[in-house]
Amino acid sequence: MADKLIIFDTTLRDGEQSPGASMTRDEKLRIARQLERLRVDVIEAGFAASSNGDFEAVQTIANAIRESTICSLSRANDRDISRAAEALKGANSSRIHTFIATSALHMEKKLRMTPEQVLEQAKQSVRFARNLVADVEFSPEDGYRSDMDFLCKVLEVVIQEGATTINVPDTVGYAVPELYGEFIRTLRERIPNSDKAIWSVHCHNDLGMAVANSLAGVKIGGARQVECTINGLGERAGNCSLEEIVMAVKTRKDYFNLEMNIDPVHIVAASRMVSQTTGFVVQPNKAVVGANAFAHASGIHQDGVLKARDTYEIMRAEDVGWSANKIVLGKLSGRNAFKQRLQELGVSLDSEMEINAAFARFKELADRKSEIFDEDILALVSDESITSEKEQYGFVSLSQHSETGERPHASIVITVDGKETHGDSDGNGPVDASLKAIESQVKSGAEMILYSVNAISGSTESQGEVTVRLQNSGRVVNGVGADPDIVVASAKAYLSALNKLHSKADRVAAQG
Ligand code: KIV
Ligand code: ZN
Repeated sequence: MADKLIIFDTTLRDGEQSPGASMTRDEKLRIARQLERLRVDVIEAGFAASSNGDFEAVQTIANAIRESTICSLSRANDRDISRAAEALKGANSSRIHTFIATSALHMEKKLRMTPEQVLEQAKQSVRFARNLVADVEFSPEDGYRSDMDFLCKVLEVVIQEGATTINVPDTVGYAVPELYGEFIRTLRERIPNSDKAIWSVHCHNDLGMAVANSLAGVKIGGARQVECTINGLGERAGNCSLEEIVMAVKTRKDYFNLEMNIDPVHIVAASRMVSQTTGFVVQPNKAVVGANAFAHASGIHQDGVLKARDTYEIMRAEDVGWSANKIVLGKLSGRNAFKQRLQELGVSLDSEMEINAAFARFKELADRKSEIFDEDILALVSDESITSEKEQYGFVSLSQHSETGERPHASIVITVDGKETHGDSDGNGPVDASLKAIESQVKSGAEMILYSVNAISGSTESQGEVTVRLQNSGRVVNGVGADPDIVVASAKAYLSALNKLHSKADRVAAQG
C-alpha cells in the first residue's frame, strides 16, 4: 500500500514573511478556508506570539476551520509556546511548531548560545509543548547547515520528549537535491528513535531548487511531510510551491507511489486568491498556475494536442481548476445567482453584510462592464473594503483630466475615518496626479517601491488590477485595487496599501 504524504501549508506564516505580503485577519481566514477546501492536512496559520494581530489570526482560523490541523509557530521558549497553545484552543486538531537554530553560525552569531544551551532549550521546550498539546513539531532552524553529530543528538532528545514531527529546514536555500535527500536519510538512519516521528522537509528557493530538494527529501530521505506555500510565496526567493509538489507527486505516482488528501481542482482558485490578496503577481510561465502553463502557441504543439492531448500535455488543465474564461454573470443577474457563483468559486463571505457589500460592488461593476468573468468576481471579493474590518481610508470618487501637451490634473474624494475629504493635484500622468491628490490629504510620507498594472482577463475591456508597494519606517506593504478604469484602480490600490501600513502591527521576525 502507498504511504501517505502530508501536505503542510505555510502560506499564512512563512509565506507572509515575504516583504509586502502581510495579510489582514480576514484575508488570512479566507485563504485558510480555501486551503481547507483544497484538503491541506496542516495549515500553519501564523506565529501567535509575534504580535496581537497574528495571535488573533491564528485564533480565528483555529475556531473556524474543522477539517485541517491548525498549527502555530513558536520559538523554543515557554512564553511563545503558551501563546501558541492559547491561540489554538478552539481548534478541532492543533499542532505547536517550535524551533531553535542548530547551525554553528546561527548559535554563535545570532543566538549567542552554546550548543549545550541550545540542546537543553530544545528539550525543555518540546517537553513544555507536549504538556499542552499532543501534536508537536520541532524544527532545527538552519538544520541543513548544522553539524550532523550535534543535530542527531538534538533530534534524538526532542523525539524522546515527545516531538511527533521532525522538520529539517534548508533555511537559506543552500541544499542540492541529492545531498539534501541523503542528509535526511542519514539522520533517519543514525537516530535510534527516528521511527517514532514523522519526518518533514522545509526548503527555501534561493537557488531555484526548493521543489526538487523537497522531492529528494521525500524520495531519497523518506520524509512523509512537505512544507510548502501557494505560488511558492515566501521570504527572499520563496518556499517550495504547493501546486508543483502536489502535481509532481500526483503526475509521477509511478515513481513516488504516495497518496495525498489534496483535491487539486481548487489549486488555481487558491493561487489567484493568494496573488490577489498579496499583490504578488504569478509569472505567466509558472508551472501549474501560470497563465501560459497550459497554452500551446507553436503550430506543431497545437496540431499535436488537437490530435491527441497527451502528445504535449502531462496534466489536464481542468484537473487543477483552470476553466475557459466564461461570462458568468451580467447586469441582470440577481443576488442568488451571485451568491451561488461565489460558492462555485470557493469563496465564502462571512456575513450577510459582506455578501450585500460584495453584491453592491458587483452591480456597480456590471453597470460599467457588460461581461463579468470569474476573475472579476475574485478581484471584487478580494477588495478588503467589503469585509467587516474598519478601514481608515476609503475611495469615493475621482475625476482627472489629461490631454496631449498639457499637465494632467486629478481631483479625488476619499474618506478618512469615515469623513469625506477632497484633494487636488497635478502630476506627470493621470495616475501620478491622482496618487499625489491622495497624498495631499493623507500626508503618509510613504515611499513607493513598486507600481504594476495587469489586465485581469487579458483584454482592454477587462478590469485593470494594480499593485502598489509602499515602504514607511522600515515596513513594506502591498495594496491591490481593481477597476475597469486603471486610474481608479491605482487610487484604490494606493489606499489599500495605506490601510495596511496603518494596521500592520510590528512583529517579531520568525528567524530574528
Ligand atoms: O526556514 C526556516 O528555517 C523556518 C523555520 C522557522 C521552520 O521557516
Ligand atoms: Zn522557512
